[in-house]
Amino acid sequence: MRRIYLDYNASTPIDPAVAAAMKPFLEDHYGNPSSGHWAATTAKAALEAARGQVAALLDCQSDEIVFTSGGSEANNLALQGAFLALRDKGNHIITTRIEHPAIIEPCRFLERLGARVTRLPVDGAGRTDPDEVRRAMTPRTILVSVMHANNEVGTIQPIEDCARIAHEHGVLFHTDAAQSVGKIPTDVNELSVDLLSIAGHKLYAPKGVGALYVRRGVSIEPLIHGAGHEGGRRAGTESALLAVGLGKACELARDLAPMNRVRDLCDGFWQALQKQFGNRVALNGHPTHRLPNTLNVSFVGRIGAEILGQLDGVAASTGSACHSGRIELSPVLEAMGVAPEVGMGAIRFSLGRGTTRDEIEVVVERLTESLA
Ligand SMILES: Cc1ncc(COP(=O)(O)O)c(C=O)c1O
Repeated sequence: MRRIYLDYNASTPIDPAVAAAMKPFLEDHYGNPSSGHWAATTAKAALEAARGQVAALLDCQSDEIVFTSGGSEANNLALQGAFLALRDKGNHIITTRIEHPAIIEPCRFLERLGARVTRLPVDGAGRTDPDEVRRAMTPRTILVSVMHANNEVGTIQPIEDCARIAHEHGVLFHTDAAQSVGKIPTDVNELSVDLLSIAGHKLYAPKGVGALYVRRGVSIEPLIHGAGHEGGRRAGTESALLAVGLGKACELARDLAPMNRVRDLCDGFWQALQKQFGNRVALNGHPTHRLPNTLNVSFVGRIGAEILGQLDGVAASTGSACHSGRIELSPVLEAMGVAPEVGMGAIRFSLGRGTTRDEIEVVVERLTESLA
């Protein structure tokens, strides 16, 4: 059985250069970066160099980067941190109906603490209309959180327009960029965001590390209280090992040229599927405002999980789940208004640096055989 990995939106392998950068910190440099003696020197310098590498990718200052345990923590820190810091100003948060659970659940949690949350609709391609942000604004709005690119269908949101509207109302803007970093430009000034989350393991760094960009002048309440690590925004001894991994991955991600090859493969994949299956296959997501690596397609009238089950060795994801014999569409496809007979046949293929043309050809062949 040939193994083919087309699930890079779920997680990426660690880039060999990232692993090499981390190795000395696994083996030798064990010092606590906050200590005042020789054992701390290398760890502290590496931690700060890594912070600089993350900042360079996002085009911000090093002191605007807070290392976290991943995308979920970064999102929680942004949402809970902003809510708690701005409680006196208001309690209203605006977000969308297609966010990752790492936004959905903190919003639900904050509702239990008294927040009011507006979840904006999206169109059939998964895009939010910035005017909806304007219409949802109230004098009590304190935060808007709109994901940069969707993990399931890859649709890219009009972040600059949404952020501009938030700022016109004096409201903070957060984006979950866990899926977009390293795939499309994520310059915080071009995006005009105040808070931005990233996740290492979507970016060829290890799992268990991420970062939150916090624009200078924006104060957030920490989730973890303790000693004053990370500028008082996240207590806990920093892992130089993980930070170095994320830093190196961010340095590599500044070069988006490898994504052109991935985009070509992804486009070729979609063309081959259309040629093979005609109108029995439908694209979920935006035809152009979409991540270069993400191809979410529905095999109409079929069940995605069953198709994947026949593609032995092919790692990809489905857009629906089967609960007690009933097919349930993912909330993202549902919010996009995808019909059940289309959505239940959804499969998300997500390509990455390691994907080859040959792998795509094999998957198209195998799909053709199994759907014959
Ligand atoms: C859009 C998005 N946000 C947040 C996360 C959570 O990141 P992590 O797994 O690092 O907590 C993911 C991971 O699937 C994601 O796709």
